[in-house]
Amino acid sequence: MTDSALIVVAAGSGTRLGRGVPKAFAELAGATILEHALRGLAKVDAAIVLVVPAGWEADAAAIAARAGVGGGADARAARIVVGGATRADSVAAGLAAAGDAHWVLVHDAARALLPLAQVERVMGALRDGARAVVPVLPVVDTVREASDAELGAIVDRSRLRAMQTPQGFDAALLRRAYAAAGDARGDSTDDAQLVQALGEPVVAVEGSELAFKITTRADAHRAELLLADEGTSMSELPTSEIRTGVGVDVHGFGGDGPLRLAGLEWEGQGLAGHSDGDVVCHAIVDALLSAAGLGDIGGLAGVDDPQHAGAFGEVFVRAAIARLAEHGWTPMNVAVQVLGNRPRIGPRRDEAQAVLTAMVGAPVSVAGTTTDGLGAIGRGEGVQAVVTALIHRRPS
Ligand code: CTP
Ligand code: MG
Repeated sequence: MTDSALIVVAAGSGTRLGRGVPKAFAELAGATILEHALRGLAKVDAAIVLVVPAGWEADAAAIAARAGVGGGADARAARIVVGGATRADSVAAGLAAAGDAHWVLVHDAARALLPLAQVERVMGALRDGARAVVPVLPVVDTVREASDAELGAIVDRSRLRAMQTPQGFDAALLRRAYAAAGDARGDSTDDAQLVQALGEPVVAVEGSELAFKITTRADAHRAELLLADEGTSMSELPTSEIRTGVGVDVHGFGGDGPLRLAGLEWEGQGLAGHSDGDVVCHAIVDALLSAAGLGDIGGLAGVDDPQHAGAFGEVFVRAAIARLAEHGWTPMNVAVQVLGNRPRIGPRRDEAQAVLTAMVGAPVSVAGTTTDGLGAIGRGEGVQAVVTALIHRRPS
């Protein structure tokens, strides 16, 4: 609703939550309560005034920007002001910064899960002519009057309503109510009450369970559970566990056998070293094991077995994949970089990729480079492979 200001009061200390930081700056499910609140409010067509504790203005600005309010070019950039000792003082500070908006909504940042539909109900009632609007919920508990020690009569709960926010007002009326109350507003936690004191009617619209005020640790826990639910239903992230790994291997030329690399046989002198010296296959093994946190090729059963001297690298790759499978892991893809003067990868890249992809059971890409003549590899003394692997498994 153009010509509206939305005052978000976030200047309380959060004594009952007891996190040691002002409540709006306490974290829930990876973001501050204020950020959760503002993410929803960013879609509201109103100029946002954010009321925060002294010293928290810069944090609030960063949070507002992250939540999508107050982004640079936005003419409706959130105004940030410092609140007061009581909630009413904070609302008064917000009102003083609300400019000449025709309508004002006042909302508790602590109601961080407020559904947008509730804001629309309040704004709708204002558009329909109401000058003071409060979202309310029926009271579910049996309620009794009481003094400290003694219980009094049960109050008919069908006549009771619990107050929520945002409360919406004709801005001039709310200003008049605050001016009339003066110091007598005391620590009123309900803005509509001050309007009512002027003899003005206050209209009720339907509130929502989700708009509950995060006050205690139990409330924070409930909010976290609700946010987690929302996360799983709204997010498109796969539910699998995903990990990356890295592997490196180097061998010098000088082997007796033919040159075996990337699962293929090449012309020229072979590589020295254990088994067939295929540094690509060995680095793939290390990358896969590294991703799964299962050690490295040295710990792979049977690698040191004399029967594997001269074995093809494929034997080890298959053993690594079997080892991963025992722990529920499946490769997603593998990327290989070969460093060396020879062999030249380009002409046989497709062949190498096809052989390795069949071996791993997931896409394997192969690239080659020289080291510009630098170091042992640059002098043509051997070949090096650097490999990354991505693997996944279903959460247990
Ligand atoms: N509030 C405020 N300024 C104050 C007190 C409260 O802006 N001086 C805000 C709070 O940040 C909150 C809302 O008013 O968003 C409702 O207040 P409440 O839930 O009581 O929060 P706190 O006062 O922070 O918590 P507590 O009473 O447990 O200290
Ligand atoms: Mg309070």
